[in-house]
Amino acid sequence: MKTLHDLHRPLGSLGIDVSPIGLGTVKLGRDQGVKYPNGFTIPDDNEARMLLKQARVLGINLIDTAPAYGRSEERLGPLLRRQRHDWVIVSKVGEEFEAGQSSHDFSAAHTRMSVERSLQRLQTDFIDLVLVHSDGNDLHVLNECDVYRTLAELKQEGKIRGFGFSGKTVEGALLALREGDCAMVTYNLNEQGEKPVLDYAAAHGKGILIKKALASGHVCLSPGVDPVQASFELLFAHPGVAGAIVGTINPLHLAHNVATAAAVIRRQA
Ligand SMILES: NC(=O)c1ccc[n+]([C@@H]2O[C@H](COP(=O)([O-])OP(=O)(O)OC[C@H]3O[C@@H](n4cnc5c(N)ncnc54)[C@H](OP(=O)(O)O)[C@@H]3O)[C@@H](O)[C@H]2O)c1
Repeated sequence: MKTLHDLHRPLGSLGIDVSPIGLGTVKLGRDQGVKYPNGFTIPDDNEARMLLKQARVLGINLIDTAPAYGRSEERLGPLLRRQRHDWVIVSKVGEEFEAGQSSHDFSAAHTRMSVERSLQRLQTDFIDLVLVHSDGNDLHVLNECDVYRTLAELKQEGKIRGFGFSGKTVEGALLALREGDCAMVTYNLNEQGEKPVLDYAAAHGKGILIKKALASGHVCLSPGVDPVQASFELLFAHPGVAGAIVGTINPLHLAHNVATAAAVIRRQA
């Protein structure tokens, strides 16, 4: 069985090693307002527990959640009980999702409230990495709002180990990486516009996590070469990439993604 145990790598300069594939958990908590090509049913607790166990056995230690992913955080708390030190937990601040609607708040008060709430929901006393869940007005969020400064304070206080930004623009991610530890960027077979951010991170020892590595599953609809293999060949060829957060609730897809990532990374080494 190909696993990722011996392929963990540093997340920038944070002193945290992550598996090159992380588990995205939108589909554990939310089925409204998502852009996946196929409908799905949110896994029950048993299915979710099995998926997390499988991920661990396959060498995945990185898990990505957010307040905006519906019940994701509050489900992960009990599901990860007694395994806290096996996981690098990434969550976010700034976006809320209620009654099918997103809203944003990048104030200092909301940032503190949100991180405290994530700590409670995740049943932990520290979160490894908290990213700003930007609304796309990245420079405004960074320059005019208090969220980033407040995350720096929360890091000083030991409530989070690192902070960063998940935005939509190259300018935003580059600015965010000056003070922050990590950027989460879109980079896949369909969209490579944020490559300058990967280049910057590689040159400056900053962490990069990839979101939408499979274009939210849309690349998997193309016939021909294995789209997962083609996607991972692109991602892992870049030295700036620490890990790709791939969202799946299908155990066969999870196993295939891990085996493919392991083979691609070994071949590229
Ligand atoms: N920070 C942000 O603003 C932001 C935005 C978007 C996403 N994210 C994070 O990144 C994660 C991933 O993004 P994403 O879920 O939008 O996109 P993604 O990882 O590119 O794609 C996930 C989709 O691909 C499918 N899939 C996965 N492996 C597959 C395989 N081997 N064969 C066929 N289909 C496969 C999944 O369906 P199955 O469940 O059927 O496998 C799922 O519908 C999210 O869960 C979230 O944690 C963050």
